[in-house]
Amino acid sequence: MSLLITGIGELFTNDPAQGGILRDAAVVVDGDRIAWVGPAGHAPAADERLDAEGAAVLPGFVDSHSHLIFAGDRAAEFGARMAGEPYTGGGIRTTVAATRAASDDELRASAARLVAEARRQGTTTIEIKSGYGLSVADEARSLRIARELTDETTFLGAHVVPAGQDPADYVDLVTGAMLTAATPYARWIDVFCERGAFDGEQARAILTAGAKAGLQLRIHASQLGPGPGVQIAVELGAASADHCTHLTDADVDALAGSDTVATLLPGAEFSTRSRYPDARRLLDAGVTVALATDCNPGSSYTSSMPFCLALAVREMRMTPAEALRAATLGGARALRRTDIGLIAAGARADLVLLDAPSYLHLAYRPGVPLVKAVLHDGVLS
Ligand code: NIG
Ligand code: FE
Repeated sequence: MSLLITGIGELFTNDPAQGGILRDAAVVVDGDRIAWVGPAGHAPAADERLDAEGAAVLPGFVDSHSHLIFAGDRAAEFGARMAGEPYTGGGIRTTVAATRAASDDELRASAARLVAEARRQGTTTIEIKSGYGLSVADEARSLRIARELTDETTFLGAHVVPAGQDPADYVDLVTGAMLTAATPYARWIDVFCERGAFDGEQARAILTAGAKAGLQLRIHASQLGPGPGVQIAVELGAASADHCTHLTDADVDALAGSDTVATLLPGAEFSTRSRYPDARRLLDAGVTVALATDCNPGSSYTSSMPFCLALAVREMRMTPAEALRAATLGGARALRRTDIGLIAAGARADLVLLDAPSYLHLAYRPGVPLVKAVLHDGVLS
């Protein structure tokens, strides 16, 4: 079945071959793919027609970093932070206890609710990490449930060392039995490389073992302070270094000379009341930047890409166009995907229609539910 979308106020393509932002454009979708993009006056016939009624049309958001498999609530921790307590990552263990105690159905229902919530806000691709199980069985089941919701699943057994366990023994477990149990359900492996979690040597060992098992690499780097994560990401050819809040000049240079994307997660800085990463410095150095939610119950409990985009514009000196590109094509690059994040013939039919005439409204009208329709795999919702 083919669908012709007309009445588009502004089409944000992310495709330089088409000139970026188009007016008087139309799009034809055939099944789950975009079949044609061009001037409305030249649009080919299609089985059905959708009048966008002046809406801005964008690629679906690509949220390349989330931690959706969890149980429990840490609102009190957030409340304490807003009263002056610092964020340390120590609360991860609270969520681990609640997650282990939850049934498969509870975890599945909670994650599915969050994916649906993200979808209503325009997210059409989402990466989901494990990392609140931290035992062989609990990490494997987290990934099994995540895999029911997305192909972009990430093994994060190396989130923190569980309470009472020896760090060296735990790294052996993560690179041994836990990796073996996780691999059938995971595309990616990630490590929280940070003081209080895993150091550079441990991160390198874990990522190297993951690569040997056939997983691709990403890393939590320099979220709470400077560290070796970015250099390790570049050295090992990781798709993305995530957070990137505390970077040295050498880190920025390394990213600029690499294929590793810097994924920025401003929801985490918002929710931990911390300084935002310097997106301008990265963009000016030529680094590919992605924006993602980091949706998790501790440091960033938002599923909203539009909210993160608005923060990036207001607090991180990104232009609205740079922020939207980072939230779509940037995320696609961070997942090493060429079929999403853009509106061009052959790409997946993942589109967002805004209740606004221009993409600028995403940051201009923060907090307003502007997504009026989402096309995911060619299906309208
Ligand atoms: O990306 N930094 C590590 N992991 C999450 C936080 C997890 C938590 O606090 O539960 C993050 O911010
Ligand atoms: Fe994270």
